[in-house]
Amino acid sequence: MDLRVVENDVALSDLAAQTVADLLRVKPDAVLALPTGATPVGFYRSLVSRCRAGGADLSRATVFNLDEYVGLRGDHPQSYRSYMDENLLRHVRVGSHYIPDGAAADAEAEARRYGAAIAAAGGFDLAVLGLGPNGHIAFNEPGTPADAPTRVVELSAATRAANARNFQGEQVPRQAITVGLGALLAARRVLLLVSGAGKAAVARSALRGPVGSAVPASFLQNHPNVTVVADRAAAAELA
Ligand code: GLP
Repeated sequence: MDLRVVENDVALSDLAAQTVADLLRVKPDAVLALPTGATPVGFYRSLVSRCRAGGADLSRATVFNLDEYVGLRGDHPQSYRSYMDENLLRHVRVGSHYIPDGAAADAEAEARRYGAAIAAAGGFDLAVLGLGPNGHIAFNEPGTPADAPTRVVELSAATRAANARNFQGEQVPRQAITVGLGALLAARRVLLLVSGAGKAAVARSALRGPVGSAVPASFLQNHPNVTVVADRAAAAELA
């Protein structure tokens, strides 16, 4: 595991965007898994400005989002589709973009369809991931086995509480469709972004603690090609 500790969120965002830009230079039709959340906002900003300046080109790339809330239409302001529109898709041309339809009448079927689309694309060349406060990646919550498929999941109380900040009093959805750990761990390369003092303890358990389902991100320790980009605050407990 390659750990890069950088000074702050700006440096983290730049390094992450540079990594994606470098991949697209050698493989313009790369298949990417991309995250949502607070951590990657600066990454998208940096990627968009690189695209505008001609330093990155997503126009032939295939982008899959990691997850979506069940029950939210794409145009709901808290849907991850809205997040992607706002942070990436309305600014740059992306070859093809996939995200589960949270409002699909049959969420299980939608999850299967999404998993099949990932498989048909040949899996991920690069999965860019954030780290949930309880060690989840995408919405693979504690208890998830390493080979979990892309599926509908129940969100944990901790995750719903952490994400309540975005919902301003509205109920946080109870379920989501998530890319499975199986597909994430099969990515040819993983870039894990960890930012802020609030992630220091979970970063330690994920990257230095025992590998297992209790902390789903810990399975990344066994992945052959992982780069972790952490700012100084998040890396404080990584010896
Ligand atoms: C959500 C997403 C995850 C993300 C996590 C951390 O639960 N499903 O993919 O990594 O939040 O988000 P943040 O960067 O806001 O801490």
